[in-house]
Amino acid sequence: MIFHSKPTLNKEDSSAVSRVINSGYISQGEAVARFESELAEYIGVKGGGAVSSGTSALHLSLIALGVKEGDDVAMPTYVCPALLNPINYIGANPLLIDINPDSYNISPADLKKKLTKKTRAVIVPHIFGLPADIKDILSIGIPVIEDCAQSVGAVYNGKKAGSFGHCAIFSFYATKVMTTGEGGMVVSNSDKILEKIKDLREYDHKPNYMVRYNYKMTDLQAAIGISQLKRLDSFISRRRNIALAYSKRFSELEIAIPKVYTEREHIYFRYVIKNRVKGQGSRVKGLEEDLKFFEVNGVKCMRPIFKPIHRYLKLKGFPEADRAWNELISIPIYPSLTDGDVKKIVRVTEKWQEAKVE
Ligand SMILES: Cc1ncc(COP(=O)(O)O)c(C=O)c1O
Repeated sequence: MIFHSKPTLNKEDSSAVSRVINSGYISQGEAVARFESELAEYIGVKGGGAVSSGTSALHLSLIALGVKEGDDVAMPTYVCPALLNPINYIGANPLLIDINPDSYNISPADLKKKLTKKTRAVIVPHIFGLPADIKDILSIGIPVIEDCAQSVGAVYNGKKAGSFGHCAIFSFYATKVMTTGEGGMVVSNSDKILEKIKDLREYDHKPNYMVRYNYKMTDLQAAIGISQLKRLDSFISRRRNIALAYSKRFSELEIAIPKVYTEREHIYFRYVIKNRVKGQGSRVKGLEEDLKFFEVNGVKCMRPIFKPIHRYLKLKGFPEADRAWNELISIPIYPSLTDGDVKKIVRVTEKWQEAKVE
C-alpha cells in the first residue's frame, strides 16, 4: 500500500537530535533561537517565535493582534478545525467565508461581502501549498494572519508566502512539508508581535502575573527543523516534479487537475484531482466509492479536507466548499515516493478513470 502521506527523515535529522541529547540541554534554547532566525530569513521577514504547534501559533497570533472575546475573526470554511479552535479558545466568533472554486483558497469577494464591524482579523491559509489572493485580501485593510501550515516555500509575485501579513504561522507536524514531529512558528516583521509571542509561550520567571501558556518548542524539535530546512528546497522540487508527471498524464486523460497561476509558485503539499471529467456533472456514486477504489488497488487517497467547518457547525450557504468536499480527491505526493510509486499511482488513476467513463 502506498501511504497518503509520510515524513521525509534521514540520518542528518537523527544526528542533529543526537547532538542536542549529548549536549545535555534539551528544552527551549540555542537551537530554537537558531531555527527561528533561519526560517525567518528563508521567508524574508524580521524574526520568528517557535511554538509547540500550528494551533498554538494561531492562538498566540490572535492574542498578539489584540483579538478579544466577542470579536469576529474571518476564516475560510474549507479547512481543518485547527483554525476554528484558537478562535474559540479566545471566545471570539468565527466568520466563515466560502472559497474560490479554482484555487480552493478563501474567496476575497465573499470575505468583502461578509465583513462585519467587529471583524478584527482574517486567517488566510495558502491551501494545499498554493498561495491565496493575498494582495486582494490585504487591500481590504483588516489585520491578516497568513497560515502557511501547508505552504512553506510557496511564492506569490516573487515573494515567499508568509511575508505579506501582519504575521504568519507554520506547522511542523509529522507529515507537513517539513517537520519537527509536532511544532509551529509565528513569523513577523513586527517586533511588538514577536515580543508578545515569546512572552506568552512561557509562564515562568516573569515580573508580573498574567495568563500565559506552555507552548514552547524544544531544542530536540528545533534541531530536526534546522536539519529539514537545509533540505526544504529539494523537498519542494521533488514535489513539483511529481506534480508535473501527474499533470502531464492526467490532462491527456481529461481528469481535472490543479490550476496553474503565473504569479504563484505552488509547492504541491496536496495534489488534488476531481472525481468527474472536466465540464461534466458527477458520474459517480460518491467520493467514498472513489476512495475505496484507490485503496483496494494499493493507493491510499483521502479527502484533502476531512469536513468543512460549516458542516461541523451545521451551517448552510457555502456552495463552493461543498462542491470541493464532494469532488476533490487528494492523491499521494511527497518526496520519498519512488519513481516506481509515482508510476503505480498514475496506473491506478488511469484504471479508475477508465472504470468511471460510461
Ligand atoms: C491550514 C492549517 N492550519 C493550521 C494547522 C494546525 O497545525 P498543527 O497540527 O501543528 O496544530 C494545520 C494542520 O493540519 C493546517 O492544515
